[in-house]
Amino acid sequence: MQFKTEIIQLLAAESGLEQSLLASLMEVPPQPELGDLALPCFRLAKVLRKAPAQIAADLKEKIAGRLPWLERVDVVGGYLNFFFDPAQYAAAVLQQCMAADYCPGSSDEGAEKTVLVEYSSPNIAKPFHVGHAFSTLLGETIANLYQHRGYEVIRLNHLGDYGTQFGKLISAWKRWGNESALAADPITELNRVYVKFYQELDEHPELEDEGRAYFKLLEDRAPEEYALWELFRKLSLEAFDKIYRRLNISFDNMNGESFYSDQIPEVVELLQGKGLLVESDGALVVNLDEYNLNPCLILKSDGATIYASRDIAAVYYRDREWDFYRNIYVVGLPQKNHFEQVFAVLKKADFAKADQCIHVPFGTVRGADAIFSTRYGNVILLDDLLAESVNKTRKIILTNNPDMSGEEVDQIAESVGVGAVRYTFLRNGRERDIIFSWDDMLDFEGDSAPYLQYCYARCSSIIRLAEDKGIWPPGQIDPVQAGQYLTGPEEQAILKLTADFEDTVLEALATHEPSIMLRNISQLARAFNRFYHSHSILHAETEELVKARLILTEITRLYLYTGLKIAGIDALERM
Ligand code: ARG
Repeated sequence: MQFKTEIIQLLAAESGLEQSLLASLMEVPPQPELGDLALPCFRLAKVLRKAPAQIAADLKEKIAGRLPWLERVDVVGGYLNFFFDPAQYAAAVLQQCMAADYCPGSSDEGAEKTVLVEYSSPNIAKPFHVGHAFSTLLGETIANLYQHRGYEVIRLNHLGDYGTQFGKLISAWKRWGNESALAADPITELNRVYVKFYQELDEHPELEDEGRAYFKLLEDRAPEEYALWELFRKLSLEAFDKIYRRLNISFDNMNGESFYSDQIPEVVELLQGKGLLVESDGALVVNLDEYNLNPCLILKSDGATIYASRDIAAVYYRDREWDFYRNIYVVGLPQKNHFEQVFAVLKKADFAKADQCIHVPFGTVRGADAIFSTRYGNVILLDDLLAESVNKTRKIILTNNPDMSGEEVDQIAESVGVGAVRYTFLRNGRERDIIFSWDDMLDFEGDSAPYLQYCYARCSSIIRLAEDKGIWPPGQIDPVQAGQYLTGPEEQAILKLTADFEDTVLEALATHEPSIMLRNISQLARAFNRFYHSHSILHAETEELVKARLILTEITRLYLYTGLKIAGIDALERM
């Protein structure tokens, strides 16, 4: 916001303090009575060797009367509180939004920097559960945030398609597999035999060796085992693809772990060359004592490769392929230690971009509702979750709109039902566990996607009505004139939130916390609804007032649209 910048510049010029220091201190007060912006002076006390209240008073003196739009400056305790002239503030915000092709919070600051975002990464032959859904939806939004700031984004899916468990799966399939069940529902059937393998293991420990032998055959590309694995992989990908299409997500690259299996010798050679590999019980490991981490296993005693070595190979591959600026892993908290080990090995191997590899962890998903404990014991499937959400939404829509056509009901139910699930994964700090509650998720009044979508649809409907009346689009807009009609607390609250949007995008990106940006548009929806309920828009007293309020409605619409789009949630024109 330009007002903030102007205050900071003036304060810096008059006090000799660094602009960056002032910018880092400046905050939006919790209540509007305390001003539009505030500078807490406590941390300046050390630099300036004065009491905070004295610093605030001195600064006030220095800038008094210098900025025409600054209505008032108050010293309260150690704070300096700034009050903007509401009409001029409104005019400034409108001015910014009225630029042609204005896209809130976007920029090209990331141009020529390639950011790899790895997310989703499910395991083939296993159900796509809500943990992978968390990664998928969070990762997609983080990728969208980078794109919004102009970065070149490459979406990666590091499929779990390799490892000793596939030897076990081959063994299980050969023993108990059913062709027609596989054709009907591949993942369910593969999971069935895999679960059975573990059940049988107690009484038949020899199965362990059989599984290992099959994995060895797979690694050696024995035709039969390799063909089975390829089939399992293909069927799994088809099933995952349905989910991705429903979520409108597509990856630039789906190299799974298997892709890296034959690059392990290079990794071993490289680590050996650096003198990092040591033997431990026949296996090769890298010691990570200086990082306070356990040794990272690179090659097992039987020569089999493991998860971590495939990840190390993947980093080198990714850098050769894309020369990345950042390499981001959206993977659950339980794998924190794994990534610490991988990154530490890279550091020890003098890989220059080890610090540009970032693990973005998230919490666990739990169902409070028995309904989630479906076919797979306590695993919640994303498919089931989406189906349930869309069904429940359809019922609500039918109750509210008995006359809507079936087709329209289906479309809206899909967008709102899927949106509700997406938002549930994104609205809180990502490291917090999620406990599902249908009531929360589909509460049209609570902090939910339907609430935001509903507000967007309301704005759209107001604009449509204005179009029908021939008063929209408004032709020339004079922001200074329109600003005079937007000085009330409800209007100002909306303007402030929109002016703050870009900062929340930046903060969301810096911390990989989309919830920060979503909180802004959620508050915006709430602020708009307060405005809507206390003011008439289309029937306001004068033409000029109608116009100004319509502009405010359209701006709200634009910001909601942008925020929802980044989160992958459909903005519906009608609901
Ligand atoms: N497939 C793994 C799982 O389901 C996640 C993979 C995470 N990514 C990685 N590069 N290790 O647990």
